[in-house]
Amino acid sequence: MARLSVRSSDIRPSPVRDMLNVSQRPGMISFAGGLPSPETFAGLDLPPPPRDLLQYGPTEGEPALRARIARDLAALGLDTEADRVMVLSGSQQGIDLAAKLVVDAGTTLAVESPAYLAALQVFRFYGARFGIIDRSSPGAGWGEAPPSMAYVIPTFQNPSGHCWTADERAAMAAACRASDVILFEDDPYRDLVYEPCERRPACAGMTGGSWIYQGSFSKTVAPGLRLGYLTASPDLFPLLVQLKQAADLHTNRLSQWMVLQYLNDPGRAERMDQVAALYRRKRDAFADALTRHLGNNASWSLPPGGLFFWLTLAEGTDVERLLKRSVERGVLFTPGSHFLAEGGASPTIRLNFSLADPEAAERGLAILAELLDD
Ligand SMILES: Cc1ncc(COP(=O)(O)O)c(C=O)c1O
Repeated sequence: MARLSVRSSDIRPSPVRDMLNVSQRPGMISFAGGLPSPETFAGLDLPPPPRDLLQYGPTEGEPALRARIARDLAALGLDTEADRVMVLSGSQQGIDLAAKLVVDAGTTLAVESPAYLAALQVFRFYGARFGIIDRSSPGAGWGEAPPSMAYVIPTFQNPSGHCWTADERAAMAAACRASDVILFEDDPYRDLVYEPCERRPACAGMTGGSWIYQGSFSKTVAPGLRLGYLTASPDLFPLLVQLKQAADLHTNRLSQWMVLQYLNDPGRAERMDQVAALYRRKRDAFADALTRHLGNNASWSLPPGGLFFWLTLAEGTDVERLLKRSVERGVLFTPGSHFLAEGGASPTIRLNFSLADPEAAERGLAILAELLDD
């Protein structure tokens, strides 16, 4: 028998990847993934890329792209510069690098619950244990044994859609600084904004402390390019670069070039407004269909941004059974229990509203309602 590492002995299939496979079946209506609408993909009618991009490149990324990202991040209030920006092969890579940097077997991390399931999965893989963040008093209970790192999505959280207030962001940063906790902020949804709300990064309040802030071009340009970025405090940045070098040397240079063309396009702001307007319309149509079909069976709040509705069903609802039956009827969603740091059953589900067209969403929600009425 092959001898594997201790951590590999407990590898479990990712529920997200499994569901993506099911969602490929013809005719399936998928509310499950975080897939952007293909209508939003930036036009890729670009000139041929320079041939020298076919050569190996720097681990940190293409200098022009890093400079451009640094300018945008500094405008958000982050203490950064081009030399402290690293381009990632998707922001999922940033989660893996941060976990490698911080987590040993038994390391405690502070996380929200629910939280992004593929982050919880990576943290668990490296051996993390979780303490749950109370947004109203972050740092409460940290006492003598604070966590090594706090992982948060303050803007349009996945899965809840929630947006933290300015006070909550400031309190989180203050608690991390006071207890030498690394603040790791994941911010892939910030540009998908439908209602005004606070979006200043919590890491903007971390000057003098240790922090990592990351973003993604997956939801605003195209996820298939696999392009994200991070910036971090001066103590952590060089270590993250070394980990990235060990992982994949550098991010695909053609994708970096394509995204730079997009960022420099004078039509970018207008295009982003159109994307947000499209998603706002989809969200509103989805909310309307939810009210008609599930108004008596579920509660939710309207997400001010991002790609998801988080629904609470009647106490005791068997969500795994609901999923099995709805997949048989051609409808896919993500059970809320996958997002819980503490594990266990939960009468919650996450529904993505960006992918399905309105007519399919209507049919899918009607099927869910029928199954819940049963
Ligand atoms: C909160 C969060 N972080 C990170 C990612 C990973 O995104 P990507 O690797 O495509 O940049 C996602 C994807 O849905 C996400 O929701």
